[in-house]
Amino acid sequence: KHKRRESIYVTMNYAKDFFMRTMQTSQEGKSLGLGYFKNRGYNGDTINKFDLGYSLDAWDALEKSAFEKGYTEKSLELAGLRSENEKGKKYDRFRGRVMFPIHDLSGRVIAFGARTLKKDGKPKYLNSPETEIYHKSDALYGIYHAKDALRIKDRCYLVEGYTDVISLNQSGIENVVASSGTALTEGQIKQIKRFTNNVTAVFDGDAAGLKAAIRGVDMLLEQGLNVRVVRLPEGEDPDSYCTQLGGTKFAEFLKDAETDFILFAAKLYNEEAKNDPLNKAEKVREVLMSIVKIPDTIQQEIFIKECATVFDISVDGLIKELNALTKREI
Ligand code: CTP
Ligand code: MN
Ligand code: MN
Ligand code: MN
Ligand code: MN
Repeated sequence: KHKRRESIYVTMNYAKDFFMRTMQTSQEGKSLGLGYFKNRGYNGDTINKFDLGYSLDAWDALEKSAFEKGYTEKSLELAGLRSENEKGKKYDRFRGRVMFPIHDLSGRVIAFGARTLKKDGKPKYLNSPETEIYHKSDALYGIYHAKDALRIKDRCYLVEGYTDVISLNQSGIENVVASSGTALTEGQIKQIKRFTNNVTAVFDGDAAGLKAAIRGVDMLLEQGLNVRVVRLPEGEDPDSYCTQLGGTKFAEFLKDAETDFILFAAKLYNEEAKNDPLNKAEKVREVLMSIVKIPDTIQQEIFIKECATVFDISVDGLIKELNALTKREI
């Protein structure tokens, strides 16, 4: 069992090297893969730092190369690098895509995210399946490259995607990880907590994204992290906005725009309620549902006071409701 896991790591490392080499040396790789990343503004150092690569648009490019080196069909399958159709025909899983290796905390490649180059290619990102070394819900993209900076800065920027992590790194912001488009899990948060208790979530600006992100924050509060948020202008993600402003200005923007999460949510919900009493009661309860998740009771009290001011209601009423909610939670 242990031996098998080790062999999967070795196979993944081979695939990573193969995709990198393919991008740097083949005609197709240079024009499509390298061309794509250069177009996005990534420099050579960034491409090497994140081990970025390209998978040829062929059914068996990886398989052929791996066979020559003595890897077996079985080892490629265990690593999640092969797919199979209904007729039992096997082929390379990743074809004609730019490759983003996902590293674990110690820098080993455990999976790939692979982006289509086609305008409306589906899926936009094709990811590795679960394997013995890759459990999607535990992986945190960027953690290997972030860990020193997380400790030094004592802060973790949380973004949505691979490209956000990479752009920020190229701009000198290394204390950043991505949830890869889903809500954070307990396992991912535990990894962050080894290095810092301060998380700043950088949200996309649109309303839908905002609502989803607000829900995603509850798990962070539950784990006792100090959660701050930055809201980006509508239509931007951290990658696009960082590229637009340049690294220095974007770093300043992050510092200036950062606000405490509870206050952010309270203000947003209060505006939404538009002074309609029933609406407002509902929104107050929404914020209390987040406050009740915070394990630190002193922090709870401080946030209750601030909420009372934002919503213009009494502290006593809020505390009564918080206590009721606390009982229900238990
Ligand atoms: N994602 C995924 N599978 C998909 C779509 C998205 O795993 N089919 C994850 C990826 O980690 C992606 C993140 O969700 O990076 C955010 O998705 P999105 O914002 O759509 O992608 P971007 O990273 O912004 O990519 P791009 O700028 O190339 O559009
Ligand atoms: Mn490397
Ligand atoms: Mn998005
Ligand atoms: Mn993007
Ligand atoms: Mn995005």
